[in-house]
Amino acid sequence: MIQQIKTKARRIMVTGGAGFIGSNFVHHWSQQYQDDRLIVLDALTYAGNRATLGYLEERENFCFVKGNICDRNLVDRLLQEEHIDTIAHFAAESHVDRSILGPGAFVETNVVGTFTLLEAFRQHWLSQGKPEDYRFLHVSTDEVYGSLEANDPPFSETTAYAPNSPYSASKAGSDHLARAYYHTYRLPTIITNCSNNYGPYHFPEKLIPLMTINILLGKPLPVYGDGQNVRDWLYVKDHCQALDLVIQKGTPGQTYNVGGNNEVKNLDLVNLLCQLMNELAPDLPVKPSQDLITFVKDRPGHDQRYAINASKIRTELGWTPQKTVEEGLKETIMWYLTNQNWWRPLLSTEYQAYYQEAYGQKFK
Ligand code: NAD
Ligand code: DAU
Repeated sequence: MIQQIKTKARRIMVTGGAGFIGSNFVHHWSQQYQDDRLIVLDALTYAGNRATLGYLEERENFCFVKGNICDRNLVDRLLQEEHIDTIAHFAAESHVDRSILGPGAFVETNVVGTFTLLEAFRQHWLSQGKPEDYRFLHVSTDEVYGSLEANDPPFSETTAYAPNSPYSASKAGSDHLARAYYHTYRLPTIITNCSNNYGPYHFPEKLIPLMTINILLGKPLPVYGDGQNVRDWLYVKDHCQALDLVIQKGTPGQTYNVGGNNEVKNLDLVNLLCQLMNELAPDLPVKPSQDLITFVKDRPGHDQRYAINASKIRTELGWTPQKTVEEGLKETIMWYLTNQNWWRPLLSTEYQAYYQEAYGQKFK
């Protein structure tokens, strides 16, 4: 168990707090630090779901604001009126396949939106006399480092950037801005680059929820290419614990890589998921669910392998991931089984149109 270190009561703004990782972080933070003021700023795109925050809306020191991070007037007003001292920035367009189909929104939100937040936070920080304990946590991805071959060492904080998709290029741009705001203005920014998250509240388009839901519905399981690409799977609650430590103890101007120490080939992961679903899910329409695995056209520019060397956050901040991929998958499956009222409404017309465009086949 990692020790909690709380240095001060914070007034924290979480962007993208109605999305997957952001909402898990909001749940984590509001449970750990009940006296902190927590403002969620989220545009509620297709990926945002206000219902995820549910019971929190009753709390006095919680506020949900529907709005865009590119809206400078709104951001200025919130920072000022709410006396924000900490931003945890998750808001983004996050899905690689959507960035291939339509990159514009990725540049707008990920680059221009991050710039808007940084500049607004800098003005606010200046107006308060540059307090040292202000923090801007920029949550980013290992995809900015590009693609590894089988025998390459994992990404470290000094690996050169080589983004390959419009998504990762837009995240790389935002990382550079966050870094530059520290080096130029000494704005206390910190960047984290993490590997593939999974767990509760994950939108159905991503590999693990997509496969879980398709197994439950008896639909084909589309594996890109030969399924030999490798990802390093990080349980979202382990990630939130790491971000907590980075906010409390991390050094401004630094980058911390966060990984699950769980490298798995996609096909092995899908097979493991099928095996666990066969055991845990009652009355599957197709059993064994492995029979649903279908190899489909590869993602253009598909990165072969991601892997994270997380020794810096381990040695400097004392963080290690707690969950193996098998433990995390079991918990995730149980969550999707018992929370069907959360994910079923997300299989909407928008999702079906996306599915048709991305996979060339109808979802229903
Ligand atoms: P997500 O797509 O589930 O959620 C994104 C949230 O941001 C949604 O609630 C959406 O409504 C909101 N949003 C989008 N555009 C907005 C805008 N212009 N203004 C305000 N809100 C906006 O994303 P996620 O998977 O939770 O990822 C969160 C962050 O973590 C992203 O920055 C992503 O790049 C990064 N990340 C994700 C993973 C992963 O495996 N999911 C891994 C590494 C890094
Ligand atoms: O590495 C961190 C990144 O992980 C984050 O920055 C992104 O926001 C997040 O979406 C995720 O990106 P990936 O592209 O790795 O995740 P995705 O779930 O889309 O795909 C995981 C792997 O599975 C990848 O190799 C592509 C493959 N895949 C994915 C889907 C959706 C399939 O084989 N079939 C599919 O249908």
